[in-house]
Amino acid sequence: MGANELLASIEDVGRTPGGGYTRLAWDPATMALREWFAGEALALGLDLVEDGNGNQFAWWGHGPDALLVGSHLDSVPEGGPLDGPLGVASALAAVGALKASGWAPSRPLAVANFTDEEGGRFGIACLGSRLATGAIAPGTALGLRDEDGTSLAEAMQAQGRDPRAAGPADWLADVKYYVELHVEQGRWLAPHGAAVGVASAIWPHGRYRFEFCGQGNHAGATAMADRHDPMLAYAATVLAARELASASGQRATLGRLRVEPGSTNSIPSRVTAWLDARASDQGELEALVAGITARAEAAAAADGTTVALTPESVTGAVEFDHALRHRLAGLLDAPVLATGAGHDAGILAARLPTAMLFVRNPTGVSHAPQESATPQDIDEGVAALTRVIEELG
Ligand code: GLV
Ligand code: MN
Ligand code: MN
Repeated sequence: MGANELLASIEDVGRTPGGGYTRLAWDPATMALREWFAGEALALGLDLVEDGNGNQFAWWGHGPDALLVGSHLDSVPEGGPLDGPLGVASALAAVGALKASGWAPSRPLAVANFTDEEGGRFGIACLGSRLATGAIAPGTALGLRDEDGTSLAEAMQAQGRDPRAAGPADWLADVKYYVELHVEQGRWLAPHGAAVGVASAIWPHGRYRFEFCGQGNHAGATAMADRHDPMLAYAATVLAARELASASGQRATLGRLRVEPGSTNSIPSRVTAWLDARASDQGELEALVAGITARAEAAAAADGTTVALTPESVTGAVEFDHALRHRLAGLLDAPVLATGAGHDAGILAARLPTAMLFVRNPTGVSHAPQESATPQDIDEGVAALTRVIEELG
């Protein structure tokens, strides 16, 4: 099956009334997608293996020096159809076409579905690849809790997995290269007239939790001058994030918020807000977060409230393997571009040569229902990935 057909076959899974997709780690939608992946692997005569973290692999041969291609099937809440599934569907389509043509790899080859790339449920992105590479300790990851208070360990157990098996994975020692195809996030390829690009680097980025605390009180009975409302320092922080990131050419977003007690007629007692910050280098990232924090603290002090910052995950800059990326850019005659988005390929890059192919996104929108690629560009992406597999496999 081609990648367009494969994507069409999962277009109803995790679909939301707003036309987007909510496919969170270990939820019914991603469980259905795991079954789908297993079925497609079987149909191609591949051997399905799942590691202790829930990462799935469909192997064509086994042994050392393997080539891994793939991506992830989970999404952010209300995400688009392609961030993740495009890479998995393209890898399955490329392997299927190569098998049908009679081509055989000279090294073991596997299609990967990494679990919980987006961190949409437990808050930390790339949990599957971080656990497999040892970038996060199993105890830390398994103790993370979702909005309902369910821990990762409990979520895995509920789906019949043994959380004690989570952690550094054996397959890593057998992999020579990982190549991830992904829908472009941002709009660079369209104005450059290219359907496919090769990644150069990922910006350093992090997720940080701000807790603003004040005095809960009556919305009608408390004079404005007597309030210690933590929402005000939160609001000042949102404005500071925009101002400081814009002034320095970096990125800062507050996209998730919890207000307690969350009552229209009560002044909040606590506001928890998550900052996503990304920058062109580590120094810029640190300066940006420090600047936003200083403004948050000043605003809280002025209101008689408090603020505390906890970094939840910080990922350093990734430079994709130079030799591999030049080889693939030359092979495909494709332009090279950096990205502000995080990926499992960025986590695996610390352990082995990895590369990424981006498929043109005409709107540039991602993490939202409007995320798109044309059927023709999807086919071009599969053709490019097929050439890469022939070259490296
Ligand atoms: C994942 O898509 C991220 O960049 O957060
Ligand atoms: Mn994403
Ligand atoms: Mn992705």
